[in-house]
Amino acid sequence: MDTAKAANLYSTYPADFMTYVNAPIGAGKPVPGPLQPMVGIPTTAGTGSETTGVIIFDLVEMHAKTGIAHRHIRPNVGIVDPENTRTLPRMAAACTGFDVLVHALESYTNLPFNRREAPTSPAERPAYQGSNPISDVWATKAIELVSRNILRVVADPQDDEARSNMIIAATFAGIGFGNAGLHLPHGMSYPVSGMVKSYVPEGYPPAVPIIPHGMAVVLNTPAALRFTGPARPQRHLEAARLMGVDTSGAAEAEAGEILAAALIELMKKTGMPNGLSAVGYSEEDVGELVEGTLPQQRLTRLSPRPFSPQDLRRIFLDSLTLW
Ligand SMILES: [Fe+2]
Repeated sequence: MDTAKAANLYSTYPADFMTYVNAPIGAGKPVPGPLQPMVGIPTTAGTGSETTGVIIFDLVEMHAKTGIAHRHIRPNVGIVDPENTRTLPRMAAACTGFDVLVHALESYTNLPFNRREAPTSPAERPAYQGSNPISDVWATKAIELVSRNILRVVADPQDDEARSNMIIAATFAGIGFGNAGLHLPHGMSYPVSGMVKSYVPEGYPPAVPIIPHGMAVVLNTPAALRFTGPARPQRHLEAARLMGVDTSGAAEAEAGEILAAALIELMKKTGMPNGLSAVGYSEEDVGELVEGTLPQQRLTRLSPRPFSPQDLRRIFLDSLTLW
């Protein structure tokens, strides 16, 4: 879907490739006007790209993932059919499912829309607005749906009800984060995917090292949420409650830890690798992972808690081993 969006953009408004790519990596020029009609048909319960005005791609020369974001890029129609995810391998279902859950967790806990910096002109209004009352509706529902269905869909790909719930959750989370934006886990995931060494997940083609997007995202998420917890503790606790945790009497100081623990529990049960060290990274790589995260400002500037490179370093170190 993202490739089709890019083809639509550059065939409608031809330009040098970096023209529309997010600053500071590209020039970050706004899309000049509407594109040709486009229909988005997801084949995983994951990105929610059928709902968003965002194109994500690998910028091979930088070993990084980055994006193009503008409301004109959003497809006109989405066809969301769980029949299209029936044959997904188990690990692909888990990785894409965690992508959905983390989209919802990030868009629910990021900087509120009325606290982010305003653009200098309306044409430069970002696609990602910060959490807001409308995105909250989509994000909270998606958190519940994924938490109740991800184990079922991984255990039994023929569970039609669970598969339907997962793909509709992907769309819901897409509408939520497509408006609210994301924060640290996605920003940190791009160098994790881009710097892959030799890791090949179960069920993926053996000759192609890859850290699938949802896996790269979720491996950083517990430590990132521990870091952001103090900035919006009630949101982190509510997200944990939506995941099924009894949060009555929980202290605000523990909000990040409680949410991180709920996520780690699901990761264990779905067979996710135990942290970045299980996909080939060690302490020596952390400097480069931090460097690769710093340019992802489109995402990370919506972190609810301001952070320094030193904070990122600590979050990556905490993500090396999760349990
Ligand atoms: Fe994602």
